[in-house]
Amino acid sequence: MKFFIDTADVKEIRELAATGLLDGVTTNPTLIAKSGRDFIEVITEIAGIVSGPVSAEVTATDAEGMIREGEKLARIADNIAIKVPLTWDGLKACKYFSSKNIMVNVTLCFSAAQAILAAKAGASFVSPFIGRLDDIGQSGMQLISDICTIYNQYEYFNTEVLVASVRSPAHVVESAMLGAHVATIPPSVLKQLVSHPLTDKGLSTFLDDWKKTGQKI
Ligand code: E4P
Repeated sequence: MKFFIDTADVKEIRELAATGLLDGVTTNPTLIAKSGRDFIEVITEIAGIVSGPVSAEVTATDAEGMIREGEKLARIADNIAIKVPLTWDGLKACKYFSSKNIMVNVTLCFSAAQAILAAKAGASFVSPFIGRLDDIGQSGMQLISDICTIYNQYEYFNTEVLVASVRSPAHVVESAMLGAHVATIPPSVLKQLVSHPLTDKGLSTFLDDWKKTGQKI
């Protein structure tokens, strides 16, 4: 499973990229606003930190505008994935970019029907937002299961399931069990993945006992 980080905070991206475990980055207009930085400047910087896909989202709502914005974003670096919303216009723009071999991440996916359309439009990634579905009492994980099942029926669907709106380590684990290709994870959740109280306790005991031997490696 690939790990993307869901943030526009360059400091956090650098820190987590240093682990060697990061396969890409996703951003959205909310995360850009939170960074307080210029969109093009911050995307350019991120694309230089990681070699994997960096999702940069268009803000036009018509296909023509999305294509114009997306072309500008695609010129930033080869690892930019143009992020478009799951609307008819977004799908048109997706088809345009995928025919030019430019990566597209179709975002704001909330149903299996929408995910089928994204695959048919040649998306590199489809982003089902599981946390936001859970928030309204629906099952985000069921959606991941449905999309994985559907995509597995068709060899010619090359779209990767990019699990988004991840809120907990359990979201990551359950998505991996279902075979989702990618999870985009907020930095705080990514850091939680490594934690287990028995690891901390076990390590502390080992270090205490090692001290008693008086040895050095
Ligand atoms: C994905 O690309 C989105 O940026 C993100 O996962 C949205 O998550 P949220 O529901 O926590 O805002």
